[in-house]
Amino acid sequence: MRIVVLKNAQAVAEFAANHIIALLNKKSHSVLGLATGSTPIRLYKQLIQANEQKKVSYKNVTTFNLDEYLGLSGTHLQSYRHFMNHYFFDHIDINKEDTFLPKGITSDPMLACAEYEKKIKEKGGIDIQLLGVGSNGHIGFNEPSSSLASRTRIKALSEDTIAANKRFFAVDEFQPSLSITMGIGTILESREIILLATGSNKAEAIRNTIEGPVAASCPASILQMHQHVMIVIDEEAAQNLK
Ligand code: F6R
Repeated sequence: MRIVVLKNAQAVAEFAANHIIALLNKKSHSVLGLATGSTPIRLYKQLIQANEQKKVSYKNVTTFNLDEYLGLSGTHLQSYRHFMNHYFFDHIDINKEDTFLPKGITSDPMLACAEYEKKIKEKGGIDIQLLGVGSNGHIGFNEPSSSLASRTRIKALSEDTIAANKRFFAVDEFQPSLSITMGIGTILESREIILLATGSNKAEAIRNTIEGPVAASCPASILQMHQHVMIVIDEEAAQNLK
C-alpha cells in the first residue's frame, strides 16, 4: 500500500490525474473504474483539461462505474449516469457506448448484476479503479458488514446514506433505497486501485483503512490485502495516522 499525503484537495486531484494520464498514455485502450461523489469532481476537471490541451485522449478508453441507484433512469438528475455525463463524459472525446454503469432501470436486477460482471471480464478487467471512501469506511455502496468477497449485487442503502441524500430529491419525489454496486471482491480484481480522500470528516475512515484491522466493519480496510494500491489524501484526511 502506497500512501501519498498532499497539502490539499487540489493537490490530490492533480496527483491522481497525472497518474491516470500517464497510464492512458502508456495503454490507450485502458479500462478505468470510476466513482461518483464529491471527491473525484476536481480530478475529473483535471482530466477534462488535459483532454482539451491534447495531453491525453479517451477515444479508446472503456469505463465502468462502481454503482447506480436502482429505480432511477440515466436521465434522472440524481442518477449516477447523469452525474458522470455532467462532470466528465460530456466534456471529453470518449465514445459514450464504452462507458458503463450498472442499470438503474431493469426488470431483472439480478441478471443485470451478473451481466455487469460479465461485461467487465469481456473488456479484459479493470486496469485502475478509482475509489472514494465514506466516512464509515464504505467503498462503492458496500456499507460496513458487507462481505469482503462480494460481487456486483443489489444493496440496500443505509439509513444514514438515505438521510444524507434526501436533500437532493423533491418532497414527493421517489427516492431510491436500493442500489446496484460492484462488490468488494469485484473491486479487488482491478489490477490497480487508487483511493482518494480529502477533509477531516474522512480522517477516521482513513485511519481504519490504513492502520485498522482488515474487517467488514471498515470495508476499505480490505485494500491492505491488494498488491497495487495507492491511497492519496490531503493533510486533513491524514491527521489521525500514526
Ligand atoms: C461513489 C461511491 C461512494 C463514494 C463515497 C464518498 O460512486 O461509490 O462510495 O465514493 O460515498 O463520497 P464523497 O466523495 O462524496 O465523500
